[in-house]
Amino acid sequence: MVFDLTDEQRMIQETARNFAQKEVLPVAAELDETGRFPAELVRQMAELGFMGVAVPEEYGGSGMDNVCYAIAMEEISRACASTGVIMSVNNSLVCDPILKFGSEETRKEFLAPLASGKNLGCFGLTEPGAGSDAGAQKTTAVRDGDCYVVNGTKNFITNAPNADVIVVFTMTDKAKAHKGITAFVADMKSKGISLGKPEKKMGIKASATASVIFEDVRVPAKNRLGGEGDGFKIAMNTLDGGRIGIAAQAIGIARASLEDALAYSKDRKQFGQPICDFQAIQWMLADIATEIDAARLLTWRAAWMKDRKMRHSKESAMAKLCASETAMRAGVKGIQIHGGYGYVREYPAERHFRDAKITEIYEGTSEIQRLVISSALLR
Ligand code: CAA
Repeated sequence: MVFDLTDEQRMIQETARNFAQKEVLPVAAELDETGRFPAELVRQMAELGFMGVAVPEEYGGSGMDNVCYAIAMEEISRACASTGVIMSVNNSLVCDPILKFGSEETRKEFLAPLASGKNLGCFGLTEPGAGSDAGAQKTTAVRDGDCYVVNGTKNFITNAPNADVIVVFTMTDKAKAHKGITAFVADMKSKGISLGKPEKKMGIKASATASVIFEDVRVPAKNRLGGEGDGFKIAMNTLDGGRIGIAAQAIGIARASLEDALAYSKDRKQFGQPICDFQAIQWMLADIATEIDAARLLTWRAAWMKDRKMRHSKESAMAKLCASETAMRAGVKGIQIHGGYGYVREYPAERHFRDAKITEIYEGTSEIQRLVISSALLR
């Protein structure tokens, strides 16, 4: 067993860390406060090749592996979780299914601009009545000549207000239940697509989330991903990869809690000594650091398996479950170590806590991850 990173993995870690420290961290508090979309950071990430890390170079990506992707995601999210999720959705939930299930024409038309960061993508699976029960899709697509006519509403769609392209899941044959779901790529400027009001969120405020409404939207049949009825498996397969990205995001957030609490504990003096000299603080730091390492190992294992095209549903679910719950515990302890200063906006500890919570919810709640893991155990 080898734990060394390859030269390429080390290189992207260093590049992402430097970029995150110099460019992302200095604006993270302001992005959280204002909810402003970090267009300039997304443009810089595109230049660094972070918007399509594991997409082959011939389709505009960086041609690296999924471990590189997890490494870069962690570094960006360490500085700003909002910027992290913008990157994650584009990589895992949009580029990946187009690469795997799109025709050559679709890849050329949609993938290259997405992977190079010229365009931004979003993923339309969730509906008002289809959250954890992703198979309960109500959005319909009806074939009409060389198009499908799409009607329905997707909600909680990350990146939607800034996106150029959507991967959208629809019901083409209700009688077949989840086997009647079909996926498409659609241009967000298509006639009949409109957006709901951006959601006011607890955390990851600089990543915009909104409903996407489809009213008689004509989507060319050539934009279909896979065949009719393949949509549910495409969604699940895509989320297997997406959960690696969210696990890495959660590790970044947990690290932010740890590193900020560590620095504060060396600085803050009580009873005549830095609080890091107290065992009560040391144990909290030790627990967070241990959990972060465990979560990272699970995440890199899932990414490693994805690179080898091994089924990794269980491993991705374990990584996301462990990393997101680690981020929450790290957030709680990070605030506790800061005491009263952890509860006020002057320090970033409370931002990390607020940002951590969503990682236990999106791309499958912790309860759904436990379901995926236990189903694999019982299979
Ligand atoms: N890969 C390929 N196929 C898969 C699969 C996978 N990982 N998981 C299941 N399948 C297949 C099964 O083999 C089965 O195939 P057959 O019908 O041929 O037998 C079929 O899919 C149905 O499987 P299940 O019976 O297990 O399906 P289910 O209805 O019980 O649902 C679930 C399973 C795990 C609960 C699933 O619905 C799920 O993951 N729900 C959570 C949805 C989710 O994560 N949403 C996130 C939205 S996106 C988001 O959050 C983005 C963002 O904002 C950043």
